[in-house]
Amino acid sequence: MKLTRLFFFFLTYLTVFLTAFSVQADDLLREARDYFSPLPEKAPARPDNPITPEKVALGKMLYFEPRLSKSWVFSCNSCHNVATAGVDMRPKSIGHRWQLGGRNSPTVLNAVFNESQFWDGRAETLEEQAKGPITNPVEMAHSEEMAVKTLSAIPAYVERFKAAFPDEQNPLTYTNAAKAIAAFEAAELRTPDAPFDQYLKGDTNALTAQQKRGLRAFMDYGCTACHSGVNLGGNGFFRFGVFNLPDEQVLPRNDKGLQDLTGDEADAYVFRTPTLRNVALTAPYFHSGAVWDLGEAVRIMAESQLGETLTNNEVADIVAFLESLTGKQPEIALPVLPIGPATMNKPDEG
Ligand code: HEC
Ligand code: HEC
Repeated sequence: MKLTRLFFFFLTYLTVFLTAFSVQADDLLREARDYFSPLPEKAPARPDNPITPEKVALGKMLYFEPRLSKSWVFSCNSCHNVATAGVDMRPKSIGHRWQLGGRNSPTVLNAVFNESQFWDGRAETLEEQAKGPITNPVEMAHSEEMAVKTLSAIPAYVERFKAAFPDEQNPLTYTNAAKAIAAFEAAELRTPDAPFDQYLKGDTNALTAQQKRGLRAFMDYGCTACHSGVNLGGNGFFRFGVFNLPDEQVLPRNDKGLQDLTGDEADAYVFRTPTLRNVALTAPYFHSGAVWDLGEAVRIMAESQLGETLTNNEVADIVAFLESLTGKQPEIALPVLPIGPATMNKPDEG
């Protein structure tokens, strides 16, 4: 009799304990779903630039095409290496004639889910963005005319543009080159199926206990005010230093961010929030590329954006959570680029 009572007593406790625990777990998931959505498995539709296999194949060639640069040395992949999570692993990129760019190279992975492009959001779409680096004097340093002239001299490209833009009279244009690159980025440079995506889809075992603590802290501290949605960022503009300006190395005072575009002092040090997807793979951090340690970046964020000082454990938990944002990296087979005739223009011309 006594034993049975004990057994029931134990059973009741066990049930209460298990219920409480699962409700808690569900609360975390439910709250996370209010802030974040899983990365779609498929490329989002692009009504103004429909994705076709021909366009993606061309865009992939152009992404790896060094002859889109004046020196024939730099391609998009030089600074957004798809073998290293879409970044160049440098504080600032090296471009034409070894010039140092002004900002850290952000990842191209999942850029299609950003609402605007560049640290200051100055391009709205990938199509618009892709036109920038080719003519940027410290990046690829070409001109639109020379880029088109170069591609037009290579018969295989003339055919490829015809196939990718079949309804157009004059398919080989600078705009279409950018469209093809954007189609490739949208179709191939996505990283679905991160542990956090699996979690959001309902697999509550996809995150470790520490990652769950990190997610809890991330939401409770309010990192979500700026890092939410599909990309945990990429969709808002905020001052780097809402509470405290970071030191000058992390936030060089000569780069005013959005203010340099708008001329409005209220926009000083305002930047577009970067995505946190794959952030564990994309050091160094911030537009300055000044911080190599992810924990350090998290600590700086808490202090500058939220006025909070995190404990070492909280930092470790949040870093563990950020590691759960590493998705399935794209497996890109290198395209074979067509050789042009000996008579075509040469490197450093134009
Ligand atoms: C010399 C290095 C370099 C080259 C070459 C280069 N980029 Fe970039 N890219 C950068 C840097 C640096 C930025 C950030 C600049 C800024 O925000 O002011 C950037 C920004 C971007 C972004 C915006 C991502 C975001 O989160 O805002 C995309 C997309 C991108 N580049 C794609 C490309 C493509 C496509 C090409 C080839 C046509 C290319 N890049 C060539 C260095 C480079
Ligand atoms: C008020 C908006 C805001 C809040 C709150 C915020 N962030 Fe940020 N976060 C930003 C902006 C803007 C940047 C880009 C700063 C820059 O480099 O100019 C950024 C950058 C980052 C980066 C560097 C990403 C990279 O690729 O370089 C990390 C990591 C990060 N945030 C994590 C966090 C964490 C963790 C929290 C909460 C403790 C947080 N953020 C809170 C706006 C915010």
